[in-house]
Amino acid sequence: MPTYNDVLEAHFRALFSPEDEVLIRIRAGIEARGMPTITVKPEEGRFLQFLAAACGARLALEIGTLGGYSGTWIVRGLQPEGRLITLEREAERAELAREHFALAGLAERVEVLVGDAHLLLPRLTARAPLDFIFIDAEKEGYPAYLAWAAENLRPGGVLAAHNACRHGKVVEAGQQDAATEAIRAFNQRLAQDPRWIASLYPGGDGMAVAVRTNSR
Ligand code: DHB
Ligand code: MG
Repeated sequence: MPTYNDVLEAHFRALFSPEDEVLIRIRAGIEARGMPTITVKPEEGRFLQFLAAACGARLALEIGTLGGYSGTWIVRGLQPEGRLITLEREAERAELAREHFALAGLAERVEVLVGDAHLLLPRLTARAPLDFIFIDAEKEGYPAYLAWAAENLRPGGVLAAHNACRHGKVVEAGQQDAATEAIRAFNQRLAQDPRWIASLYPGGDGMAVAVRTNSR
């Protein structure tokens, strides 16, 4: 019998991660524009904030902005002068995210870069080392994003990746689509690479989390 269930989820969401007016408006804004409602859940957002705060992050990177919901949680966990660079392939989403960061009073602390992350990341090595990286973009890209993160996160820096469970598909043998295979490869590499101490946060759709070790 699963220990964590919908009742406990609702209980702890209300306890630890209630959304304020800003987050409610950001979530609603994404839905109102007809964009996919795949934004992280409040408890996942709170966990991102927690991780960013726990590692004392000053410079964070997010791959996959959507409407700025997870990004807002992340910036709220950074050090007072901390900044977030967030990458979004779709211009319409990036524009909405900019509106939402302004609504949250965070416009000065967030850079929304528009384009394919695989093309933007090589340029961002100039900004390394980073303290915190959150991956929540197209799943086929996760292994490449992991390789980049290993090279550009400081020792003690934290990585988080959304959809580590892929709605349960990672453990269903019949699921062999490219996205699920990519998540499996990502999880396996993260688990076995000595450059990471990794674990899984099982809320929402599962968040793979890892600390960058001193291993080179
Ligand atoms: C889906 C959910 C996500 O959180 C995501 O990042 C991409 C896709 C989905 O449910 O399809
Ligand atoms: Mg996701």
